Amino acid sequence: MALINIKIEGIPYQVEEGLTILQAAKACGYEIPSLCTFPNGECNEGSCRVCLVEATGARGLVASCVYPVAEGMEIRISSPAAVEARRESVELLLSNHNKNCQQCDKNGQCELLHVANLTGARDDAFAGVHSETHLDRLAPGLVRDTSKCILCGRCVARCQNAHGIGILGYENRGFNTYIAPAGDRSFAESPCIQCGQCVNVCPTGALMEQSEIDRIDEAMKAGKHVIVQAAPAVRAALGEEFGYPVGTPVTGKMIAALRRLGFERVYDVNFGADLTIMEEGTELLDRIQNGGVLPMITSCSPGWVNYAEYNYGELLPHLSSCKSPHQMQGAIIKSYWAAEHGIAPEDVFVVSVMPCVAKKYEKEREQEKVNGIPDVDAVITTRELARMIRRSGIRFKKLPDEEWDQDICGDYSGAGVIFGVTGGVMEAALRTVHYKLTGKEKEEIIFEEVRGHEAGIREASIDIGGITVRVAMASGMRSAKILLDEIKEGKSPYHFIEIIYGMSGRMYQRRRSALCEKLFPSG
Ligand code: FES
Repeated sequence: MALINIKIEGIPYQVEEGLTILQAAKACGYEIPSLCTFPNGECNEGSCRVCLVEATGARGLVASCVYPVAEGMEIRISSPAAVEARRESVELLLSNHNKNCQQCDKNGQCELLHVANLTGARDDAFAGVHSETHLDRLAPGLVRDTSKCILCGRCVARCQNAHGIGILGYENRGFNTYIAPAGDRSFAESPCIQCGQCVNVCPTGALMEQSEIDRIDEAMKAGKHVIVQAAPAVRAALGEEFGYPVGTPVTGKMIAALRRLGFERVYDVNFGADLTIMEEGTELLDRIQNGGVLPMITSCSPGWVNYAEYNYGELLPHLSSCKSPHQMQGAIIKSYWAAEHGIAPEDVFVVSVMPCVAKKYEKEREQEKVNGIPDVDAVITTRELARMIRRSGIRFKKLPDEEWDQDICGDYSGAGVIFGVTGGVMEAALRTVHYKLTGKEKEEIIFEEVRGHEAGIREASIDIGGITVRVAMASGMRSAKILLDEIKEGKSPYHFIEIIYGMSGRMYQRRRSALCEKLFPSG
């Protein structure tokens, strides 16, 4: 990428051509307030106007998140006109904002509050009538509260771009505009797959996960046996919440924190991942050997299962019948573990810490219950766990490193870890089938990119005990659609398909390698 010369606040810099002013300023160490742009600097709508600056060659102030740098450009962030305009933009947003920050789950991480501090905005500068509030708490995973929405449009763009679902849009116009699933429905009544991508990008508390912290508190107060299991992805994400560099696993401290929060047993979900892999591998083998429905498609992502139900109902027999790892492990805790300790299943309360809000919906499904008893009683996200740790007064970084509980659910293989980094289910299941048929370990499976770089589809042909198994992996719902349409048309050449949900194949490979390297440095 070519470099160009610019000046910011009179200081010369060389920056990459093609960057926006916002991105260039960030690269040079400046923080220009921004809201509607994505946290990675990717431009969205340029609608909030909190990023205004002066730049030579432009008439008046420009939105730095959309305006590109040019050779010789001089940028002034600190001009009185820019400072005042940014502050007024934030004050206008605050004028229609529910400022009950104390009761907001986003407290401490609210980007609106951050830019209000940065710009010196006063919340009463434009006092007046507030637009009507629309509160949606019907879906198990998500809450929408329009009184906190600043109409930045990040959620609308993410819902459209992440998986091509696009159920979120603007209702009404002018002062009465608000964001809702199309047709002004609740999330529960819409074809929302509850993936939580909108929650991840919301800068305020307008879109949040449905918190289940109170339910855990009640179970503990009621004297239930409250057992927790944590997914592999949580151990790295939790570190970021407490200021560790991105990707740092904090497994030992997380276990110590969970014990201090009052959980009676602390388990890794990897035992459940091993169960899922064995079940899924066995199911695949059975389908291949006995003329079952092929290709079989992995079913451990509840967001993907929701997507299939809404959009490809006729393909449901292709989905594996296996439960996801935390559901399998929850079932084991409520059956074997409870029996071993002489405890009735209804006195056990299982909590899963998961990276995905769709798991909140999954645990509510009737198909996941046994005699009306759910396998898992509460699902909290990494963010909720961090909130529990903060409110308890625990100093996370001071905690000792502790170990998982080692009883019935305490043992697992490395295959479960690969599984846990999103994806990897197929590889782990195929290794299991290979071992079952040949008694030998399978070397790493190499997937080739097919149908062009953009398609996000990779495939492999594997000889397993004399059977050639063709497998494919699709990253995200857009790629999955290509493979699903092939099945509908009777043209699918595959035996097994894995839908990797919410992450590109390359990113998956990178994260998998990085995590495995950190967890198992000896290989
Ligand atoms: Fe630039 Fe919103 S961040 S206009």
